[in-house]
Amino acid sequence: MLIAVDGPAASGKGTIAKRLAAHFGLAHLDTGLLYRAVGLATIDDWEREDFEARAIDAAMNLDTTNLDEEVLSTAEVGLAASKVARIPEVRKALNRAQRIFMDTPEGAILDGRDIGSRICPHADVKLFVTAQASTRARRRTDQLLARNLDVTYKDILAQIKKRDKDDTENPAGAFFQAPDAHLLDTSELGIEAAFLAALDIVERVMAKKISDETR
Ligand code: C5P
Repeated sequence: MLIAVDGPAASGKGTIAKRLAAHFGLAHLDTGLLYRAVGLATIDDWEREDFEARAIDAAMNLDTTNLDEEVLSTAEVGLAASKVARIPEVRKALNRAQRIFMDTPEGAILDGRDIGSRICPHADVKLFVTAQASTRARRRTDQLLARNLDVTYKDILAQIKKRDKDDTENPAGAFFQAPDAHLLDTSELGIEAAFLAALDIVERVMAKKISDETR
């Protein structure tokens, strides 16, 4: 089984993808971490003339088996990820790693921005997880404050809105909901309820697929 989960920052897509992976025994890849790792590797290079070349080099040589989620999860690294995500050759190099992962024999679930639309257009199930920007900013602020990071709701909301805009207008790969993706709005849902709603969609889609195939 191949599941594609897309959504904007702090929509809950990562948590949902992790829970679905554990439930179905699928390999899971948070593709945002790939962009974040390249962003972090080049975070001091923005003013350099060879910034793009450095980002491409970092993407081509990225060790995808060694991604430190805690180090990569800051708001600054999120913005750096959005910046390198606009470089077509960076996307090309990272797409290669994602396509290899999606062929994991036991099945896979990938979450990101273009999984259902470009990386896995043939996925068995596609979810588009979203929530209001204010809810997402509140969640992300609470997560970062819990780690004793010095952040404010106002700054995080501004960063989330900037990333939403940059990602939606990204000329190297615009972020949008695939037409056949199932929309899940988590604005009013806690983690457990969001997971159960996602599970319900996956089970219904898979049951229909099996019934169509045996007809
Ligand atoms: O999902 P996360 O917030 O970790 O992603 C960080 C950034 O990486 C996004 O804002 C986006 O610019 C980029 N990204 C992307 N395509 C993906 C995953 C992430 O462009 N599949």
